[in-house]
Parts: sequence; C-alpha cells; structure tokens
Amino acid sequence: MKAITYHEYGKSDVLQFVEIPDPVPKDGEVLVEIIASSVNPIDINIRKGFLKAITGKKFPRTPGADLAGKVIESKHPDFKAGDKVYGMNEAMAGGCNAEKIAIPGAYLAEKPNVLSFHTAAIMPLSGLTCIQALIRKCAIKAGYDVLINGCTGGVGSMAVQIATAKQAMVSGVCSKKNEQLARNLGADHVVGYEHEDLYQLGKFDIIFDTVETLQLNKVKKMLKPGGKYITTKVNPNIMLRAKLSRKINYVNVKPDHTDLVLLTRMIEDKQIIPVIEKDYPLEFLAKAHDFVERGHSRGKVIVQVKAQGKK
Ligand SMILES: NC(=O)c1ccc[n+]([C@@H]2O[C@H](COP(=O)([O-])OP(=O)(O)OC[C@H]3O[C@@H](n4cnc5c(N)ncnc54)[C@H](OP(=O)(O)O)[C@@H]3O)[C@@H](O)[C@H]2O)c1
Repeated sequence: MKAITYHEYGKSDVLQFVEIPDPVPKDGEVLVEIIASSVNPIDINIRKGFLKAITGKKFPRTPGADLAGKVIESKHPDFKAGDKVYGMNEAMAGGCNAEKIAIPGAYLAEKPNVLSFHTAAIMPLSGLTCIQALIRKCAIKAGYDVLINGCTGGVGSMAVQIATAKQAMVSGVCSKKNEQLARNLGADHVVGYEHEDLYQLGKFDIIFDTVETLQLNKVKKMLKPGGKYITTKVNPNIMLRAKLSRKINYVNVKPDHTDLVLLTRMIEDKQIIPVIEKDYPLEFLAKAHDFVERGHSRGKVIVQVKAQGKK
C-alpha cells in the first residue's frame, strides 16, 4: 500500500510518500481501507521529536490519527467487510496517513450518514477532545457561562458548537478575521485576542483553553465557585496542578467507541457541522503539515487518501 513514512524526527521534508506492506489485523482489530484522514498538531509535534520521550526511536513512523474508510476485513465482532467507518487511533501511534490500517474495532464507529468520507475524517480526534473535555470532565450544562479560547481552530470550532448545543452561554476568543465565523458557529460573545484583555472578561463556569495560551494563575481568578479550567496542554506541571486542585483540568484525548457514537449523534442532529479549511492529497502531506504548523487553521485540514469521487 501507499503511505507516508519518516525515518527520523525533523522538518516536514522527512515525510516520504512510499510503498509499504499491507498491515495484518490481529484479534479485535479491523483492517480499514482509508479514504481520508486529517492533520492534527500532535502529528507535527511527534514528527519534530517533541514527544520522543514517549514515541522513542522506533522507525519508520506513519503519521495521522484520524480516519474514515471502509472495512476490508474484520476480527472484531461489531464490524464486517464493507462497513463504512470513522474513528481515531491512539495519537502517539498514528498510522492513518496511509491507504490501510489495522486498528482496534473499539476505536471505530459507523460513519455518520450525513457526511462524506472526506468530511467524516476530520471529526474524530478534535470531536472526541471536546466531548471528553466539556461533557465528560466538565459536565457542561444549560445556562453555564463557557469561555473557549481559540474558538475557530480544529478543536475550538467543535467546542463552540458542542457548548452551544448544550445551551451554554458561549464566549469565544479568536483573531479579528475569524470573528464572524465564531458567531456563525454559535458563540454568543466574540472576543478578539489581539485587542482585548482576556483576563477582564468576567467569571465562567468552564474555561476551555484549546490553544494553550492562557496564563493559569490569572485564569483561575476568572472561575465562578465550582468552576473548571480545562486545557489541551498535557505536561507534568499541569498534571500535578490538576492533582492538587479540582479547578484545574486537562484533556488527553483517547479513542473511545461510546464517545464516537455520541459524536455521530450530534453530527446527524446537525449540532456539529464540520468546518473545513483545506484539503491535500496524501502525497502532499508535507504541505499540509506546514500549513497546520502555522497555527491559524480555520477548522480542519483533510488528507485525501482516495479522491473524493472514489467512494
Ligand atoms: N491534549 C489533547 O488531547 C489534545 C487534543 C487535540 C488538540 N490538542 C492540542 O490543542 C491545540 C489546538 O489544536 P487544534 O487542532 O485546535 O489546532 P489548530 O486547528 O491548528 O487551531 C489553532 C487555533 O489557534 C488559534 N490561535 C492562534 N494564536 C492564538 C492566540 N494567541 N489566542 C487564541 N487563539 C489563537 C488560531 O486562530 P486564529 O487564526 O484566529 O489566530 C487557530 O484557530 C494544539 O496544541 C494541539 O496539539 C491537544
């Protein structure tokens, strides 16, 4: 099969478009023909070696955690050949920027009917991050005041929509150029990070920092009694602080069938509408990485493994 691989950590030019052997599914796994994938910032951090304490020195690596495609062969009782699926692999494992993957069935769910494979492929990692942060960890409720920092990126654009679907009052922080998009996604108040003092915005039940730019000591003072700050940043400092205070939380997204089914329901109920920034064919993954690395995506970037028409 064709896949992107790399044999050393480094810039995007380490990514090679190559032919490698097909994966073979083990018990509990499903062999999926991948039709589309996506790029998440974690793929870039792994490629650059920022996480090598965890990812080690085993090469080659294939990036990509998100996928949508068709089951070729199943060794999991819930799936059969021909099923249309979407899901995510462990972010550290990747492997989805390729034509096929052998992946645990527990990491997959039926693809939402209302989305094409290409659009479905951008949803799992960012969508599950928001579900696990806002619904599982922070128990978001109707009437909550919620602040979402970075509200038009891959994670933020879904966080605003999930918070809006839960009937929270959403304040979204983004750049001036994205203010209209933030409103379209459902934000009740839109705040430009270039011009406003974010630490004077009032008090919140949940503050979700999806882009890891807020200062913890200042943001803690913006929580209502019982309020929670949650960040996508995962490091030993935040993990320790989270152990010591119920106010401080982090999300470390994990593949989860139940959460994928919830994501599907929210997509099919039109509570979450995908925001697509760009798409790139698989062989141009390096360009997609360079784009995402700039840190100003509006929504998500699709990696086309098969052309849109070839479903
Ligand atoms: N821990 C986990 O489980 C987990 C899961 C998913 C993601 N993450 C992490 O979460 C972060 C965001 O991921 P993503 O997929 O949403 O990234 P993304 O799609 O690249 O979005 C980046 C966003 O950051 C915004 N931004 C840039 N500078 C900003 C600032 N100073 N203040 C507020 N917003 C700013 C950009 O908006 P403008 O264009 O308007 O500047 C853009 O919308 C990444 O670091 C990623 O690694 C962690």
